[in-house]
Amino acid sequence: MTTTPPLTALSALLPPTVHCTEAFGPPPHGALLDPERRHIHGRSPRRQRQFTAARTLARQALTELGHPPTPLLPGPGGAPDWPSGVAGSITHCTGYTACAATRTTHLASLGIDAEPAEPLPHGVLDLTATADERRHLTRLPRGQTPWDRLLFSAKEATYKACYPLTRQWAGLATITVHLRPDHTFTACHPHHPTPHHGRWTATEGILITTLTIPRSATTG
Ligand SMILES: CC(C)(COP(=O)(O)OP(=O)(O)OC[C@H]1O[C@@H](n2cnc3c(N)ncnc32)[C@H](O)[C@@H]1OP(=O)(O)O)[C@@H](O)C(=O)NCCC(=O)NCCS
Repeated sequence: MTTTPPLTALSALLPPTVHCTEAFGPPPHGALLDPERRHIHGRSPRRQRQFTAARTLARQALTELGHPPTPLLPGPGGAPDWPSGVAGSITHCTGYTACAATRTTHLASLGIDAEPAEPLPHGVLDLTATADERRHLTRLPRGQTPWDRLLFSAKEATYKACYPLTRQWAGLATITVHLRPDHTFTACHPHHPTPHHGRWTATEGILITTLTIPRSATTG
C-alpha cells in the first residue's frame, strides 16, 4: 500500500506515480544505516553530509513506496543500487538535495539533476555541448535562464536515467539535448537511441531537470 506523494518542485515535473523528496538549502541532517556508514567513512565532511542527506531523502521516498529501510549503496558506475522493482535517481548541489523513486511497473527508469542557476564555468560548454547545441542556445530567449547550465543539467539527468538500462558510460558531448522555453526538452543517448522527453524548472536559484523512460521504450 503506498501513500499519495506530496507536491514538491520536483514532483511537479514528474508523473504522480513517482515519489519525490527534496530539501532546499544546506543538506538536511539524517541518519545512515551501517553499510552506508562504512561506505562513506573517511570521505570529506561535505561529501558525508551530502551522502547522508541523499540517503535520508531516498529512504523517505522508498517508505512512501512501501519499502522497508534498506542500505542504498552506489553500485558499479556510481548509480545507486535501488531495491528490486524500484527505479530512482538522486541529485545534490549547493542549495538543493533531492530523490525521486517509482516502481519499475510504472517507469523503466528516470533521472533527476539539479544545478545552481548560474552560467557554466568558462570552457565547460565547449567540452560538453555539440556545435548544433551551442548554436541553438544562442536562439533561446534572453532572460534569467542560464541556458548553458540547463543544457548541462538535462544531459546529466539523461545520463542518470539511461545508465541503469545501458550500464555504459557516455560522455556528455555524446548525449544531445534540445531545450525548449516551455520547460520541456528532448534528449538522445548514444546507447539508448529512442528520443527521450524531459522537463525542467528554475526555482529558488536552482535549475531542476527530470527525464523519464517509459516501459514501452524498453520493450519490443
Ligand atoms: C554521474 C554524474 C551524472 C553525477 O552528476 P553530478 O551533477 O556530478 O552530481 P549529482 O549530485 O547531480 O548526482 C550525483 C548522484 O548521481 C547518482 N549517480 C552517480 N552515478 C550514476 C550513474 N552512473 N547512473 C545513475 N545515477 C548515478 C548518484 O546517486 C549520485 O549521488 P550519490 O553518490 O550520493 O548516490 C556525472 O558526474 C557524470 O559522470 N556524468 C556523465 C559523464 C560525463 O561526461 N562526465 C563529465 C562531466 S564534465
